[in-house]
Amino acid sequence: MINLYSDTQTQPSKAMRLAMAEAEVGDEQRGEDPSVNRLCEMTAELLGKEAAVFLPSGTMCNQLAIHIHCRPGEEIIAHRTAHILNFEAGGTAAFSGVQIQGLDGAKGQFSVEAARAAIRPKDRHNPQTRLIAIEQTANLGGGAVWPLADIQALGALADQQGLAYHMDGARLLNAVVASGVTAKDFAGPFDSLWIDLSKGLGCPVGAVLAGSKEFIEEAWRLKQRTGGAMRQAGIIAAAGIYALEHNVERLAEDHANAKLFAESLRNLPGVKVDPQAVETNIVFFDIAGSGMTADSFCDALKAKGVDLGGAGTSVRAVTHLDISRDDVMTAVDAIRNVLQEAKR
Ligand SMILES: Cc1ncc(COP(=O)(O)O)c(C=O)c1O
Repeated sequence: MINLYSDTQTQPSKAMRLAMAEAEVGDEQRGEDPSVNRLCEMTAELLGKEAAVFLPSGTMCNQLAIHIHCRPGEEIIAHRTAHILNFEAGGTAAFSGVQIQGLDGAKGQFSVEAARAAIRPKDRHNPQTRLIAIEQTANLGGGAVWPLADIQALGALADQQGLAYHMDGARLLNAVVASGVTAKDFAGPFDSLWIDLSKGLGCPVGAVLAGSKEFIEEAWRLKQRTGGAMRQAGIIAAAGIYALEHNVERLAEDHANAKLFAESLRNLPGVKVDPQAVETNIVFFDIAGSGMTADSFCDALKAKGVDLGGAGTSVRAVTHLDISRDDVMTAVDAIRNVLQEAKR
């Protein structure tokens, strides 16, 4: 199976498994796991923050950060396609009593002007705006990279308005590799942010949340409270260390493969795709012209050994470290066949 469904589908490599097998471990909950501690130090250093905490998932990073920044009845400003708004099972409402105002904007991004206009005036009728949250890269925005200048301008707005500022950095390192901007520079204006280890970095599990010492102490309290504190977690943290040392620069290959995929799809009848819009490892394309739905298209492709996801007539492909250039070309051939069969 050529798995283009998501970069969450990666299998840990032999070398990563070896690093895991040989990891030094201790009691993570007591702060005594050397591998977890090293991973957290590496991430804090990478992001230029005082401290970091290892968590089981990116979703948990988002939810803990939101819980720390916000109080019940308050509001978050985010893009309407944001993960926190659509894919975290209503976690912000359930755990923190917080609502999200979803903003429009191309590429999963919103402008500083839109954010400024969305901040609620101080009035007893209004939920009080507490947090601005962005996704780097923007997943449903097609993996688009938020430009540093926009990130800084939103940070200045948050500062000026006394709001917290949070980055869902599930694919921050894709943005770093694609743009040449350092992780530290992207991270600079944020009160909290995290990176996911289980996406393009190829780990089986884990994410690391970073911020000030005080923020991370509070995150630790919540990690304990919600059962996220672990024991010999160095086994999985070792995969993260391996990934930060070996799997960051190579994200450029995933970006080149995504571009190649989009360019190869461009001439297929019934497919609409904009290769120019592909900035990192995510490609969205539309198949309305083929008369198929995303469901029927993905089912037919799966039967030919290619896994993709979609909704309506929009299909998403995500490249990652288990996808080679040859896999991309094989997937394009399979798509061509499916479209021809549909036409017949
Ligand atoms: C933008 C974004 N944020 C958050 C998450 C959640 O990460 P996790 O699967 O580690 O909980 C994802 C996962 O797909 C994502 O794409």
